[in-house]
Amino acid sequence: MIIVYESKTGFTKKYAEMLSAKTGLKLYRVKELSKININEEIIFLGWMKIGKVQGLKKVRKYNLKAVCGSGTGRTAEPDAETIITRNKLGNVPFFYLRGGCFPLKDLKGIDRMMMSMFVKTLKKRSDKDEKLIEAIDTIENGFDGVKEENLIPIIEWLNSR
Ligand SMILES: Cc1cc2nc3c(=O)[nH]c(=O)nc-3n(C[C@H](O)[C@H](O)[C@H](O)COP(=O)(O)O)c2cc1C
Repeated sequence: MIIVYESKTGFTKKYAEMLSAKTGLKLYRVKELSKININEEIIFLGWMKIGKVQGLKKVRKYNLKAVCGSGTGRTAEPDAETIITRNKLGNVPFFYLRGGCFPLKDLKGIDRMMMSMFVKTLKKRSDKDEKLIEAIDTIENGFDGVKEENLIPIIEWLNSR
């Protein structure tokens, strides 16, 4: 078993490194897949964009055993069930990891455009509850939710095999 990850701004990378340090499993970036034997069992960690786990496509032909998606919310957005369907995970277990984001002003290109549009839509909503207010603040000001304890479910899953 090895760990493979895809990370754009570093939050998923931090989880991948923590998981590798805690389990002793070797760590690879998606870019390094050519070094990996096709039969090797993989735990994949990827950042999520509109409910899609980034980099997952490239590891599909490998022996994928579990997928962790990192996002900024307290829970997976849109929700774990939609993510499982949207990413065609079937029976491959999915684990959500709360990652983080840089402040909106520090984002670049298409990501900045998408997040600006998203935050504008959120701000226009009249049903602003605590969760929504937190989501707006997180996008505008940035947030780091990476914590070792968030890895407990995946470590428990690994130990149960
Ligand atoms: C354009 C864009 C779309 C995103 N879409 C989602 C999403 O659908 N669900 C979610 O939970 N997080 C979403 N996020 C948040 C990132 O997945 C989250 O910040 C992640 O931890 C970043 O990981 P990285 O630092 O490894 O790149 C989105 C972020 C950006 C910039």
